[in-house]
Amino acid sequence: MRIASLLSLAYTLAVVADAAPKPNTTRNELNNGRIVGGIEADRHEFKFLVHFRLGDNCCAGSIIREDWVVTAAQCGQWAYNSTITAGDHNLDEVEGTEQTRQVAGFLIHPDFESGLANQNDIALLYVSPPFEFNEYVQPVVIPDINFAPTAVATVAGWGSLSEGGPSASNLMKVDVPMVDEEECNSNHAGVIVPSMLLWRGWKRCMRRSSSDTGGPLVCGDNQTLCGIVSWNRGCGRPNLPGVYTKVSQFSQWIRSNMIPVYEDPSPVESITTCGGHINATSAEISFQLGSSIRADQRCVWIITAPYSYLRFRLTSSGLSENDGLFLTQFFLNRPGDQERMTSIGEDYFLTSGFALVTLNVGNAPSRGFRLEFYSSMFPDSQDLTSLQPLNTNIGNISYPVGGGNYRLNENALFVINPIVPAQRTVMFTRMDVEYGSVCQYDAVTIYNWFNNQYVQVAKVCGTSLPPLTTFESGVGLITFQSDSSVVGTGFDFEWV
Ligand SMILES: *[C@@H]1O[C@H](CO)[C@@H](O)[C@H](O)[C@H]1NC(C)=O
Ligand SMILES: *[C@@H]1O[C@H](CO)[C@@H](O)[C@H](O)[C@H]1NC(C)=O
Ligand SMILES: *[C@@H]1O[C@H](CO)[C@@H](O)[C@H](O)[C@H]1NC(C)=O
Ligand SMILES: *[C@@H]1O[C@H](CO)[C@@H](O)[C@H](O)[C@H]1NC(C)=O
Ligand SMILES: *[C@@H]1O[C@H](CO)[C@@H](O)[C@H](O)[C@H]1NC(C)=O
Repeated sequence: MRIASLLSLAYTLAVVADAAPKPNTTRNELNNGRIVGGIEADRHEFKFLVHFRLGDNCCAGSIIREDWVVTAAQCGQWAYNSTITAGDHNLDEVEGTEQTRQVAGFLIHPDFESGLANQNDIALLYVSPPFEFNEYVQPVVIPDINFAPTAVATVAGWGSLSEGGPSASNLMKVDVPMVDEEECNSNHAGVIVPSMLLWRGWKRCMRRSSSDTGGPLVCGDNQTLCGIVSWNRGCGRPNLPGVYTKVSQFSQWIRSNMIPVYEDPSPVESITTCGGHINATSAEISFQLGSSIRADQRCVWIITAPYSYLRFRLTSSGLSENDGLFLTQFFLNRPGDQERMTSIGEDYFLTSGFALVTLNVGNAPSRGFRLEFYSSMFPDSQDLTSLQPLNTNIGNISYPVGGGNYRLNENALFVINPIVPAQRTVMFTRMDVEYGSVCQYDAVTIYNWFNNQYVQVAKVCGTSLPPLTTFESGVGLITFQSDSSVVGTGFDFEWV
């Protein structure tokens, strides 16, 4: 995942627009299959319905427990730290029944595929503090796996009433008839899979700030959540059924994942060295606090926490503007998004349990700092198979250690970070890893810490030796990945 960020949201939610609104829906119209529009819902008819803002956009979701909401993955992946409101009817008025909370965590379905068909478009949001259930706010019924959807279902939301029209202030609802499988695929070019349901018409029209995406489609008198508004081309067009995530298919996934792990009350480990590996749920990194650090010093702390949320907080700092303390997220064994920690007392978040903290002191001596991190929420799925912090001035590595072949599905990381700052050169003397034309199977990748970033300088495979690489700042990373077939005898390198 990524550093919590609302950038590039627009692409996920962009939808086209064009048809006439219909003010009223009747059974007759349903039978004609020509539903657009909808009518205003009764106040608090959908007590589980929530809405939340993502930058300039809006999504919807359904409460499943006091502290959990289910929505579409395409909404959930951006929802972190957004405010979420339940008990609402008119978006433009304060009615006194609203409850507003923060999204403190999210879990995207691991098989979610964004793109044309948004497969497995479902996500859970963890809300803090929990909603209080009352006559305006209640959970929705989650269907069992064998739930048979009713022939007509109801979709509710604040999305606009017609393609291109303005969004609604009052909550709207519309009854929609189910569409059979054959028609589904003929309308949506064969991209429909069993985890999707289609219903005739649907008023998800995204314009300006409001959308029904992520919102509920309910079946039967007890308002069972049979679908989650997922996608369509256009909206409410008679010949283009709306596509919904089939919730019954995910009931087990929903139930088994509503168990977050909370942060430790205080750090359980402490490290005071320049760099190193910290494998803990929480820790404090305290380096030369109250004393001085030499010019050009670089230290890399490697964090492998068991849960996928990391909250960092700088609690004290004598660093100057010429120094930098950077937080780099690791994802799929690659350095990813990066943030510079500057403000004392502010929280910095990563949605990964695997991260690097890199201290880069400028060309004048500096003073130390102290920070803390806490991991929480869901188990982190990253599997680092080998980690070697290499802090000596010179050295060499032969991988795998002890000879023989490396294993399948390896994710190894070598961090070159000499304690005494000096330019280093890395030289490979042996290479034998599975070859691919773009090293798509097994690969050795070299990253240089340059301009306050980890910059990829080479990715190699086969038997040709990687180029001689100079780490100007002394700091660099070497990663090794192998896939699930074919192995080799590995590689040797030295740094001098
Ligand atoms: C909807 O249409 C039906 C039948 O045409 C009519 O009886 C009903 O009053 C209409 N409802 C609204 C809210 O306009
Ligand atoms: C979360 O939101 C609050 C206020 O809405 C803001 O002050 C804070 O910086 C946000 N945190 C993150 C990590 O985005
Ligand atoms: C809700 O209604 C459906 C049938 O429409 C039924 O199968 C289900 O058991 C009901 N659930 C609850 C919690 O009442
Ligand atoms: C971290 O510790 C856990 C349990 O103590 C262990 O299973 C895991 O392999 C360790 N991870 C790393 C990267 O050392
Ligand atoms: C590799 O490092 C070891 C000590 O760690 C040293 O004994 C050995 O000579 C080195 N080999 C090479 C080829 O530099």
